[in-house]
Amino acid sequence: MPAIIIIGLQWGDEGKGKIVDFISENADLAVRYQGGANAGHTVVLNGKTYRFHHLPVAALRGKHVCLASGMVIDPVKLLEELGLLNKEGIRPKLTIDGKAHIVLDVHKMLDEAEESSGKGVGTTRRGIGPAYTYKAARVGIRFSDLAEIESVKPRLKKAVDMTRALLSDVYNMDVELNVEHVSQFLYDVASKLGKYVGDVSLLVNETLDRGGVVILEGAQGTLLDIDHGTYPFVTSSNTTAGAACNSVGIGPKRVDEVIGVTKAYTTRVGKGPFPTEMEEPIASMVREKGKEYGTTTGRPRRVGWFDAVAVKYSIMLNGATSVAVTKVDCLSGIDPVKVCLAYEFNGQELENFPSSLHVLEKCKPVYVELEGWRDLSEKEKIEALKGNFDVLPKQLRNYIEFLEELLARPIKYVSIGAERHETIVR
Ligand code: GDP
Ligand code: IMO
Ligand code: MG
Repeated sequence: MPAIIIIGLQWGDEGKGKIVDFISENADLAVRYQGGANAGHTVVLNGKTYRFHHLPVAALRGKHVCLASGMVIDPVKLLEELGLLNKEGIRPKLTIDGKAHIVLDVHKMLDEAEESSGKGVGTTRRGIGPAYTYKAARVGIRFSDLAEIESVKPRLKKAVDMTRALLSDVYNMDVELNVEHVSQFLYDVASKLGKYVGDVSLLVNETLDRGGVVILEGAQGTLLDIDHGTYPFVTSSNTTAGAACNSVGIGPKRVDEVIGVTKAYTTRVGKGPFPTEMEEPIASMVREKGKEYGTTTGRPRRVGWFDAVAVKYSIMLNGATSVAVTKVDCLSGIDPVKVCLAYEFNGQELENFPSSLHVLEKCKPVYVELEGWRDLSEKEKIEALKGNFDVLPKQLRNYIEFLEELLARPIKYVSIGAERHETIVR
């Protein structure tokens, strides 16, 4: 039975948290598989806002939640998150894969140093890039190492020495770094999180063998993928559906559904090309209406029109089987609304997302304008949420049907508000 991947089709913050929460009611297992505390996934339930950075949002439903091997996990942030849930009386069963990497202070220091130098890409400063760098350089520390801290001390020493050298040579910073201090931190982590360490890959495969439902929750967005995204303005992991299989440890044939999530418009946090970025004052109007401020860092998000070139590219990369469109309510009152159908580059029209950043940076959007829609009345909302799509304003229906045709995928979910129940299933 099904493994369902839910993935962002833009540059993150598409509303993955909201959609994953909505569809995870029947999940037997919920898994986060890449990234770390850079993610910020929001669920709004009965007026209360819950923000998740590490845990799959299905923790809120009391599901068994897993952090897979492809993740880089910040123990401090994870403990904070568990503490907040405990205060709400929620104690989800948690399994952390022993192969997942631990984000250490040295990683956060390097991320901070790079961003403070003014030359960074505008990261979340959560140590993500350095943690993956150290993983690739084979000097990372994994959760399974918590059982053998003494035996990984030579590796830890190498990581500390590398950090000292980098801070000094690249950033001109002299920082006292002590291996004993880091290993003490690891002993503390072992005492608090050691009990959760297990084999997520095995758990997921066994659950699927039994016919269980497994939800794999993507973080970041496809366009932030380190290979296929807008490199170097990306995160340091693979965010696509294919990567989900590897990061969890399942074969690609085990996945039944890939649901791509996109906003009705586009946002991006941090630096990097953004062809459909809106002009003022519309950008501010949408930012305020959509409350477009980072869930993790509070930074104002850059706002743009829907970019069909980019979203079609993401659908292709992920093999998305259906699409969820969120935040249509945040575009109401804006008339006309624009959709980017192609890019213009050097007098040529490009229909496919360019692989070169040098090209993308010079692309100008080719827009079609569609009629905007008004706010929905309470009555229309109630009817629509019962599944009666036809009660919605004609212009909004046209917009969704237009996107559906353009993207060549069924738009299965349309989100008209932040609350869990404000989701139309088509
Ligand atoms: P994620 O990282 O993809 O999970 O998205 P975030 O949680 O970072 O950002 C999405 C924001 O939009 C959150 O504040 C959600 O509560 C909110 N949101 C999601 N869907 C809708 C919607 O349809 N309408 C409105 N108004 N807000 C939404
Ligand atoms: P969710 O899961 C939006 C962006 C950062 C920066 C780049 C690299 O909530 O969609 P990093 O800290 O990962 O090294 O930063 O990636 N970024 C996100 N943008 N949503 C996210 O997560 C993001 N996670 C990272 O802003 O541009
Ligand atoms: Mg987010």
